[in-house]
Amino acid sequence: MSDKMKTYPVVDVKTHHPDMKSFYFTQIEEQIHPGQFFNLWLPGVDEKPFSVSDVYQGIMEITIKAVGPFTRAFMNVKRGDLIGIRGPFGQGFTLHQHSLLIGGGMGIVPLHYLARLLRAKGFHFEVILGGRSEKDIPFVTEFSEWAPTTFVTEDGSIGYQGLVTQFIKEIIYRSKLSHIYSSGPEGMLIRVMEEAAGNGLDYEISFERYMKCGIGICGQCVVDGSGIRLCKEGPVLNRDEAENVTEWGMTHRNAAGKRENKLS
Ligand SMILES: Cc1cc2nc3c(=O)[nH]c(=O)nc-3n(C[C@H](O)[C@H](O)[C@H](O)COP(=O)(O)OP(=O)(O)OC[C@H]3O[C@@H](n4cnc5c(N)ncnc54)[C@H](O)[C@@H]3O)c2cc1C
Ligand code: FES
Repeated sequence: MSDKMKTYPVVDVKTHHPDMKSFYFTQIEEQIHPGQFFNLWLPGVDEKPFSVSDVYQGIMEITIKAVGPFTRAFMNVKRGDLIGIRGPFGQGFTLHQHSLLIGGGMGIVPLHYLARLLRAKGFHFEVILGGRSEKDIPFVTEFSEWAPTTFVTEDGSIGYQGLVTQFIKEIIYRSKLSHIYSSGPEGMLIRVMEEAAGNGLDYEISFERYMKCGIGICGQCVVDGSGIRLCKEGPVLNRDEAENVTEWGMTHRNAAGKRENKLS
């Protein structure tokens, strides 16, 4: 992990659609585990956390969806622009045979790099990906080529119409899968934890909280019940760690560090 901010030029940009782009960087010297994240700094705008969507042939990919001031400003970043980068931060996924990857929305991003590594090891895995509509699901082509993949959208624009959690049990039993990886909206993750526990499966889940320092100092991303700092001991938690947290689905800290109702 490197807390030292370094600047890197963007070597390429891929447009998934006008509100979702991938940015490519070379010469990141640190070893990067799937599920880890970097803080990206746009001079004059802000610094925000982003998962690694891929590392392939020495090139790191970061995939960003425009949702607010920082991410909208990032959509204007061009090849050759300099970006401040700190990281990689946090604990990532470990690699297991016979797994099910369950992703929702931009939570799919870290699962893409995980899938590349599982595939390189020759491990068997299957995938369920969901979102509001097809354009909210990144890497449709890659996942379809790499593994049996079930798509589920709320509007039915790709795959089944519904929620990803409706399909977990059927796929686990049909394909004899023993490990779950998941990343996505917290409501979905809570259902994934219930399904995994109900079926006696181990899991690793990537959770999100508002993050600032990224290195465990400021306390912004501490979760109740366990005192886990998601930027340092997470964002990926295993079953024992995740089950000790009492705030899932109920509270979180806002940008000022104040606890607020998750639903407000
Ligand atoms: C570990 C981690 C990995 C992430 N990976 C990705 C990714 O690969 N691709 C992607 O598009 N987004 C990712 N995000 C979310 C991304 O950090 C936010 O979308 C971004 O910070 C929004 O900033 P904004 O100014 O554009 O929007 P805002 O209007 O400020 O916020 C929009 C939403 O993003 C959340 N957010 C804002 N700032 C932060 C912050 N510092 N930490 C966490 N959440 C924040 C807000 O709570 C709100 O829900 C990740 C977040 C975390 C914590
Ligand atoms: S973001 Fe500062 S402790 Fe996690």
